[in-house]
Amino acid sequence: MSVFESAPLFPKDAIFALTAQYNHDPSPVKVNLGQGSYRDGAGLPWVLPSVRESRRRLSSDQKLHHEYLPILGLPEFRSAVGKTLLGAQAHIAIESKLAVSQSLSGTGSLHLAGTLLRDYSGLTHQVLLSEPTWSNHHLIFSSLGFEVRTFRYYDATTGSLDWKSYADALHAAEPKSIVVLHACAHNSTGCDPTREQWTEIGRIIKAKSLFPLFDAAYLGFRSGNFDQDAFSIRHFVNDLGLEAAVAVSFAKNMGLYGERVGATVLVTKSENVARNCESVLERIQRSEISNPPAYGAKVATQILSDESLRSMWFEDLETMSTRIGTMRQSLCDLLVKSGAPGSWDHITQQTGMFGFLGLSHKVVLQLRRQYHIYMADNSRISIAGLNESNVVFVAKAIADCLRAESISEATSSCAASNL
Ligand code: LMR
Repeated sequence: MSVFESAPLFPKDAIFALTAQYNHDPSPVKVNLGQGSYRDGAGLPWVLPSVRESRRRLSSDQKLHHEYLPILGLPEFRSAVGKTLLGAQAHIAIESKLAVSQSLSGTGSLHLAGTLLRDYSGLTHQVLLSEPTWSNHHLIFSSLGFEVRTFRYYDATTGSLDWKSYADALHAAEPKSIVVLHACAHNSTGCDPTREQWTEIGRIIKAKSLFPLFDAAYLGFRSGNFDQDAFSIRHFVNDLGLEAAVAVSFAKNMGLYGERVGATVLVTKSENVARNCESVLERIQRSEISNPPAYGAKVATQILSDESLRSMWFEDLETMSTRIGTMRQSLCDLLVKSGAPGSWDHITQQTGMFGFLGLSHKVVLQLRRQYHIYMADNSRISIAGLNESNVVFVAKAIADCLRAESISEATSSCAASNL
């Protein structure tokens, strides 16, 4: 009898299992719309020109070494993240009230923030998540021992944000609960609140003493402009004076997926509290990973701090968001042109990396098996997986599957009415 006899066999992570399935698919015609990773017009991973240049500069730096970083991470990186996130001007006033730690990308950041909020805050252990949300939110917060509550975020009939349900859920939440907010480019629906709605969300959060925890993984992907996309965070922190936690990731917006570059930024009410919180973050980090990885943070720091690299990066964000926008439009137009039953405007109204198609599970599976088109089970697609060479094929396949589905539904309802 093994001491591990009680270990269960967990199912594989759905998103990464889908990538593995796609990679093993021998079909010469296959499309991966699953995992949210940017692809260029040829369907290949894209090393951002700003990242390439930052790497070049690092490699010619005679002083580049591979020593440990401090436990909280690279000091220049931590300071550059706060400044970039909140805006240079606001940062001057608030810097002393920030507790910042480098993290293992967004997941590590949520984990650091979640542990601190669980053990060292006066908040409840309730976390409010949108439904749907990034699937890892459930795993992170439930494994930290939080009680996870959800609310309906998406209205499938209109293909847009269910604003009433969102506002009702905030009003009904127990005071001092944590609310996880997607700062922009909601993963998985691509539906964001408008600025007016963000203002209202902030008002309710403040009035009800809820705690905002921003997941900021896609800044720059909504509009192509980092500053505009940081509106929700800046409004809560700079305008409303709220305490908040921000889980920052540079996986997507710098394409540094495998380097695990991120940060936890806590906005507190005083210098004293910030100093204490930073000591807590340092202690958690020491017990979990000791020191965060150095290379990616060095690449990112140069981009955030050097004027010329920063403007190159802003152009890169434009390039990525523009290509995704073009693909949204093409997919929508081609679905309409192919006579796919239903309306498709929601694809162009959604933003960021993802589109939420609203297909049945049956159609999602048929697309996978028959056409080798891979998307998440809930029909979330990573629009970045589309390009000029595959979008016609994808639109036609979706239209064919939907037509077949509506014929089979009509046949079965006809058969049922003849009984
Ligand atoms: C996604 O949502 O597809 C990405 O963020 C990859 C992941 O970690 O799930």
